[in-house]
Amino acid sequence: MKTRLIFLGPPGAGKGTQASIVSSRFSLPWLATGDMLRDEIARKTTLGIAAKNYVDDGKLVADEVVNAILKERLREHRNGFVLDGYPRTIEQAEYLDSIVTLDKVLFFDAPEDVLVERIINRRICPACNAVYNISEYKPKVDGVCDRDGTRLELRSDDNAQVASFRIKTFWEKTAPLVSYYFEKDILAKITASLPFDEVTREILQVLESD
Ligand code: AP5
Repeated sequence: MKTRLIFLGPPGAGKGTQASIVSSRFSLPWLATGDMLRDEIARKTTLGIAAKNYVDDGKLVADEVVNAILKERLREHRNGFVLDGYPRTIEQAEYLDSIVTLDKVLFFDAPEDVLVERIINRRICPACNAVYNISEYKPKVDGVCDRDGTRLELRSDDNAQVASFRIKTFWEKTAPLVSYYFEKDILAKITASLPFDEVTREILQVLESD
């Protein structure tokens, strides 16, 4: 079983949704740099204050800032993790290579119209980071998290304009990682436009193959 995993893909592809499933199923920590940054922003830490405008505008936060947060969180989990949203640049990937050896990188591939629709329909729980969708994966009670009863929110960067910018940024800055990991022979492509269960099935096949 592969345990040191990266979920790579454009915004809205379903990385967080599937990372949550894989993390519970295999008891692997789910490390999402977007959630870490939103947490710093909500707590108004120095780092959060510095990162807020970048995240709201859909721009990448500086490599050295994200690398430092990641290194701290990864310290206790060197043997297994699901990394969601990191790395996003070649510099971040090289930094990661210097601190850990990866087993598999899953590239979540989906067309732009699917991504934008998913992003604008998403609602998140600010307390536990659970992810919902107002069209297909609704909470039991409208607008309230199933797990802890917290009122669900729209992310500050989840509007059509910022979503398109984030997708463009993905293709400019992050997509080169697809070739980077393909050349290392650890890349697998996932058809992320499929329904939830089918995407999960594809992922499990990759993770459980030798
Ligand atoms: P981050 O939080 O990482 O956002 P992202 O990469 O843009 O990805 P998303 O969270 O939008 O999408 P996802 O693929 O996780 O989709 P999800 O599962 O939620 O980053 C936010 C910001 O932080 C960045 O813009 C940047 O500013 C900063 N940042 C973060 N990491 C950084 C880094 N390493 N370096 C620099 N800056 C960094 O699903 C989306 C919706 O679709 C949900 O509603 C879900 O219910 C639904 N859905 C999921 N799967 C399906 C399916 N199969 N069928 C139908 N609906 C589905």
